[in-house]
Amino acid sequence: MHIDIVSVLPELLESPLSHSIMKRAREKGLLQVEVHALRKWAVNSYGQVDDYQYGGGAGMVMMCEPLVNAIDELSVKAPFDEIIYLTPDGEKFNQKIANQLSLKSRLLLICGHYKGIDERVREHYITREISIGDYVLSGGELPAAVLVDAIGRLLPGVLNDETSALFDSFQDNLLAPPVYTRPADFRGWKVPEVLLSGDPKKIEDWRYEMALKRTSERRPDMAG
Ligand code: ADE
Repeated sequence: MHIDIVSVLPELLESPLSHSIMKRAREKGLLQVEVHALRKWAVNSYGQVDDYQYGGGAGMVMMCEPLVNAIDELSVKAPFDEIIYLTPDGEKFNQKIANQLSLKSRLLLICGHYKGIDERVREHYITREISIGDYVLSGGELPAAVLVDAIGRLLPGVLNDETSALFDSFQDNLLAPPVYTRPADFRGWKVPEVLLSGDPKKIEDWRYEMALKRTSERRPDMAG
């Protein structure tokens, strides 16, 4: 899987994609992520990539030219399966979309800033628009990092124990059951007996029951 990201603040993406599982995925060559500074395609030597909006109003708009030149140049190597714009008015990201995107081989993520990007880029280049939730962030970088993490961990070979992604919350429309580690008794707070029973069938049944309970209590909307 190859993911290119275009951003006016590439530094914001460095840390989230350089540790833990993402680091390993990249080192193993299972995930290639390239972050590109949009200013490389700026319209002048001042590094301009945005301008005032037509019709007036506060806030700058990211210009067509730098974005289109960036997309065209990055598409030369091979076409993208999806060109994704991170925006609060996109479709809301969830596990199903992460699963779908993890099956693609080349993605381009465009991070917006200020008032967003010129509508014509959305109309003519963007194939999918994604929001990570109903709140507004200062830019698309953190949302892009969220997408890369959610997608990257699904790639075969990225997680040590491949089955673990299958049992994540949301993969089977259920929240994950509670988990415990040592000690079995901490300040008198005991780990449920069944988990110490050594009976895999009983443990599996308990976990399923707890997942159902947790889902119906916390997310009744997921059950239907
Ligand atoms: N850019 C700003 N806020 C965002 C959000 N909630 N999701 C995706 N991109 C964004």
